[in-house]
Amino acid sequence: MKTNHQCFLDAKKVIAGGVNSSARAFKAVRAIPRFFQRAEGPYLFDVEGQRYIDYIGSWGPMILGHGDKRVLHAISEQIKLGLTYGAPTEIETRLAEKIISLMPNIQMVRFVNSGTEATMVAIRLARGVTGRDKIIKFEGCYHGHADCLLVKAGSAVLTLGIPDSPGVPANTTKDTLTAEFNNFDQVTEIFNTHPGQIAGIIIEPIAGNMNFVRPQPGFLEHLRKLCDQNGSLLIIDEVMTGFRVALGGAQSIYQIKPDITCLGKIVGGGMPVGAIGGSREIMNQLTPDGKIFQSGTLSGNPIAMASGLATLNAISAEPNFFEKLTDLSARLMNGLQTAADEYNVPFLTDYEGGMFGFYFTHQNAVKNLNDISKCDIERFIQFFNFMLEHGIYLACSAYEAGFVSITHTPQDIDETIQKAREFFKKLSF
Ligand SMILES: Cc1ncc(COP(=O)(O)O)c(C=O)c1O
Repeated sequence: MKTNHQCFLDAKKVIAGGVNSSARAFKAVRAIPRFFQRAEGPYLFDVEGQRYIDYIGSWGPMILGHGDKRVLHAISEQIKLGLTYGAPTEIETRLAEKIISLMPNIQMVRFVNSGTEATMVAIRLARGVTGRDKIIKFEGCYHGHADCLLVKAGSAVLTLGIPDSPGVPANTTKDTLTAEFNNFDQVTEIFNTHPGQIAGIIIEPIAGNMNFVRPQPGFLEHLRKLCDQNGSLLIIDEVMTGFRVALGGAQSIYQIKPDITCLGKIVGGGMPVGAIGGSREIMNQLTPDGKIFQSGTLSGNPIAMASGLATLNAISAEPNFFEKLTDLSARLMNGLQTAADEYNVPFLTDYEGGMFGFYFTHQNAVKNLNDISKCDIERFIQFFNFMLEHGIYLACSAYEAGFVSITHTPQDIDETIQKAREFFKKLSF
């Protein structure tokens, strides 16, 4: 039997950094990534046979838990018919119809292969439709790794974007303007400084890539109003929140109407799918009917569509699905809070549907990246490693939200709280 450590050393010889997504590297938490062999319901099993209660769910898609029989059945039936044709299939229409029936502001859809592709196409669409170049994004919001969105959000809000990564030409990001999440005035100021030049705003409606940060009351409405006043488009990136915080996404909770919605993760049920959606008028501007180009060899792949459709069918068919999911998140977050309070550990929690965040902090609220950066990251790293060693698999960064699936049991949650209590107790001595 190989150990996780051996697997990692082998991987590092042939895969850059030993991982195929930087988010998995465990570098920030100074640990060895676990190499998994199988997964079932809320559990992951690594190559050493260790079982973990999984609060990542493959970074969001596995809302039904691992190995849902309905999803596996749909995939295996579809596989018998061939893997890909590079041509239209009816199942793409079925999944598009399903999304339209669930998401409040989508009349038409285009499928791609990832969340990154979805936001990339959304930005191109906003720029093409408005004939403008500049976009606004928020500090701490992640929209995938397309060049123009990889901008370090800094304090110099009104200056031009600075690329976050070597290899991203400054020219590519010069039209990406950044503002602080939840800062009403900064966004207004950007519009005032660049009149008639903003193609659109892109935002995570509940940020999940700087831990969990919800919008302040009225913030999303403020963005909608600014877009309306300035002829700009509002892009709501629901790659993480879509079908996760509510069936109709965060936009249904906050009653906010985007021009373009980006989807990913759950929409593929564990297979690589992304999607953008919006009104007929906007979506018809994509090629072939319009002039704004989009294409993809495997876009709308039938196996991935079958997986996404079975997943959306399952979550929408079950009455009270989101109430149950919310109860699980509430049990976990309230339990952790109580345990932390018991030992006077400065700690905060928040959740919505199946998505949650916890923070080692003295602050009584977190509303932007600056607040999150003030949290005790060292303590998070200790907590993460303690939990990992005790079979609890949390996101390996203090800047990520966590997820529960519908298969997590109250016993799984209570076991998690009990382990956390042991950690908090150790801290108090
Ligand atoms: C809000 C958001 N948008 C876009 C993306 C990019 O999606 P993908 O990793 O599928 O490219 C992510 C990924 O975590 C995300 O959370």
